[in-house]
Amino acid sequence: MTFLAEFIYIIAAVLFVVGLKRMNKPATARRGNQMSSIGMFLAILGTLIHFDILTPEYILIGMVIGSAVGVILARVVKMTEMPQMVALLNGFGGIASLLVGWAEYHKNPSADLYTAVTTFLTVVVGGLTFSGSVIAWAKLKEVMSGKPILFPGQQVVNAAVLLSVVVGGVIFSIDPANNYPIFIGLMAVGLILGVTSVIPIGGADMPVVISLLNSYSGIAGCLAGFVIQNTVLIVTGSLVGASGIILTNIMCKAMNRSLANVLFSGFGSVTTQGKSEKKGEVKSLSAQDAYMVLESSGSVVFVPGYGLAVAQAQHACHELASLLQKNGTEVTFAIHPVAGRMPGHMNVLLAEANVSYDLLKEMDDVNPTIDQVDVAIVIGANDVVNPAAREDKTSPIYGMPIINVDKAKNVIVMKRSMAAGFAGIENPLFYKENTKMLFGDAKAVLQELVSEFKKS
Ligand code: TAP
Repeated sequence: MTFLAEFIYIIAAVLFVVGLKRMNKPATARRGNQMSSIGMFLAILGTLIHFDILTPEYILIGMVIGSAVGVILARVVKMTEMPQMVALLNGFGGIASLLVGWAEYHKNPSADLYTAVTTFLTVVVGGLTFSGSVIAWAKLKEVMSGKPILFPGQQVVNAAVLLSVVVGGVIFSIDPANNYPIFIGLMAVGLILGVTSVIPIGGADMPVVISLLNSYSGIAGCLAGFVIQNTVLIVTGSLVGASGIILTNIMCKAMNRSLANVLFSGFGSVTTQGKSEKKGEVKSLSAQDAYMVLESSGSVVFVPGYGLAVAQAQHACHELASLLQKNGTEVTFAIHPVAGRMPGHMNVLLAEANVSYDLLKEMDDVNPTIDQVDVAIVIGANDVVNPAAREDKTSPIYGMPIINVDKAKNVIVMKRSMAAGFAGIENPLFYKENTKMLFGDAKAVLQELVSEFKKS
């Protein structure tokens, strides 16, 4: 039975690895996801077979309840609320590992040094992943303020909490059987650490934090795998831990910030708006005027942002792009790595509207030739096209790579008002000579443009 279970675990692990690999391209991502789900099913099946003498009905009941909750959550969640859901799922992963570690202690309190160390690390990392994820969820859900919560001596408190983990961990590992109160204390400290390390981070940095917590949930799972000596848990935990840290790194690079800066700088707590130079004049245009500009354009770059998701304007956007192509215009979509509210947000929306993957270009591929583009159409994007990131050293987003739409020959910005984006800062792009604002809900405005094209 154990041999069969191990064999199934190996197949599950292979499916996880291949599935993950396939997720790196939009065309194969769906299949990759399906492969990983089958891998997960096999992992549970392997566990059922492995524990046949125990009471597998508990595992079955857990599987049915977990699957039902997962299906319902995934069906009802709005696309814009996906990061919150990912935060919660990471938290569930963390608390599951904590519970495994806790249960294992009760099964074998006089464990050897190796098991004692992995057990205490499991409950600490699992606990901090859980509480940190709940805080990240609350900040994104706006149940609590997205502003960084800072207080004097915060770093000292965090350092003291960390030190207590090390000291408590050493005492517990030397004699686990006689140190149950310390074990409980370690769990509590892990939970506290999650709260104290996430509250000083601003809402705008939550995606990076969620990705990091995703990595932590993998590490906690991997540690739990060592405690119960379960191969598939070690493999999946390592995959999640490694992929989470890689994604964290990609996002930090996209914002030109170090992980330490994201975690400790309290970004967003200062309300500096950059230097207050004379802004210039905002010029707006109507959909009819915009049509005239677009109708005679040889090349157009669409730059979607969070507003595209809010307006659910992806289908109208695709329709306009197709009409432009029919009109002989060269069309591309420029995708910023942190546009929207979750990694790959724009790719998912545009894929849903059947925009061809070939038209999607990454920021670094678009920027070098953007000065030759006739019109850049910014659809509900703000921070990711803010030239202050390039020009204004006092700006909170200074240094973040942006799509340089201001360098295009003409810029049309579709948004409802002059309101700021996620970072809460002014955007000098709106006042530039070559920029025109097309005010309104992105979907409504795009539909107006589509009907102008159809009329002609
Ligand atoms: P934002 O800077 O947040 O700007 C979005 C703009 O969309 C707003 O200025 C808003 O202006 C407009 N908008 C909202 N609803 C609209 C509608 N129905 N129709 C038209 N426009 C609408 O978005 P971005 O440029 O995509 O930048 C993303 C920001 O979020 C970055 O700061 C990034 O760091 C942060 N962030 C990213 C992620 C990831 S991983 N992608 C996750 C969380 C946060 P109006 O209100 O005037 O319409």
